[in-house]
Amino acid sequence: MANVSLKSIVKSYDGQTNVVDGIDLNIAEGEFVVLVGPSGCGKSTTLRMIAGLEDITAGTLSIGDCVVNHVEPKNRDIAMVFQSYALYPHMSVYKNMAFALQLRKTPKDEIDRRVKDAAAKLGITEYLDRKPKALSGGQRQRVALGRAIVRAPACFLFDEPLSNLDAKLRAETRAELKQLHQQLKTTSVYVTHDQEEAMTLGDRVVVMSGGHIQQAGTPLEVYGMPANRFVAGFIGMPAMNMIEGKAVQRDNGVGFVSDGIELPLTGKLAEHAKQAIGQKLGLGVRPEHLSLTSNDNNAPTINIDVQVVEMLGAMMDIYGTLANGQRILARTEARPVETNSELKLAIAIEKAHLFEPGTYGANLRCDPKGSH
Ligand SMILES: Nc1ncnc2c1ncn2[C@@H]1O[C@H](COP(=O)(O)OP(=O)(O)OP(=O)(O)O)[C@@H](O)[C@H]1O
Ligand SMILES: [Mg+2]
Repeated sequence: MANVSLKSIVKSYDGQTNVVDGIDLNIAEGEFVVLVGPSGCGKSTTLRMIAGLEDITAGTLSIGDCVVNHVEPKNRDIAMVFQSYALYPHMSVYKNMAFALQLRKTPKDEIDRRVKDAAAKLGITEYLDRKPKALSGGQRQRVALGRAIVRAPACFLFDEPLSNLDAKLRAETRAELKQLHQQLKTTSVYVTHDQEEAMTLGDRVVVMSGGHIQQAGTPLEVYGMPANRFVAGFIGMPAMNMIEGKAVQRDNGVGFVSDGIELPLTGKLAEHAKQAIGQKLGLGVRPEHLSLTSNDNNAPTINIDVQVVEMLGAMMDIYGTLANGQRILARTEARPVETNSELKLAIAIEKAHLFEPGTYGANLRCDPKGSH
């Protein structure tokens, strides 16, 4: 096992634009880090640079204590698992898993022990004699995982390994992968565009956009204290509501106004808003922080026109609009609600955020000194 360190890593394919634009990331020994972001943000490129499958344009990449910028992929002691499985079709499952060890001239009984051990861990023992084409997608992905495990590398690299599986199998395999990491504790870097996968798998989630890291933190940190509008919108499902308006000073405190709506701000949020009176801001409220009733009678409320109600079972999603036309989505406990009616929703204002304007507008609660 080893730590992996990226210092000011840059990648340009055409010598003009940087698709990875100065990434700094330290992945601790044994840590499971997930790179997540929209299509084209540079996740696979970053992973492929760690693997040695792409040249690094600038910066320093270290695995363990060694700078590996110019080390061949096969000498980096990493194992990569791809979305496409990349199995050898003419070889049996056993052979597929044993192949890399045979190349390394590992003794036969040692290979046998490792292959059987990995197969047992992954529940594929009964398929060892089959060819990949006689397996389902989920079974093939297990073989691909097995092939990585038998090598006992310093680091696993995963590029969207579950995206070819159907939703149920994806969720199951995800849980198994997590369990596997708890057993093996091998340093892992995992790429996905699925925020839910990132949140459930990662010890740490690295949110990328436009070749930059927007935020790196535990799942709870990126959910609870998103550094900017991009992270706020990307992490969390359904996405955070953003009410555009500005902070105002009133005799009795600080408020947030947005065309005909005024909400009193309290606590830390009020303190931060005070520094930005009169400026354009977005009030970010997660759908799950809106409720039909509140235990706190002083909670500020908004009125929405209910357009659509989607029952989810215990919970429901209410789609509506504010008087000023802005769309609002609330996820609340399921209860009969009429469409085309007006509904009062309480805001858990202590969990709300204020953001500066723009795609990457900063969260006022995340000041650079790190105190919230
Ligand atoms: N071999 C290549 N040559 C030129 N440009 C490339 C190459 N590979 C990737 N790119 C570009 O680099 C950018 C980042 O691509 P990358 O594959 O890293 O994105 P990604 O975050 O993995 O996206 P996805 O979620 O779609 O897999 C994209 O704009 C892509 O078009
Ligand atoms: Mg990719």
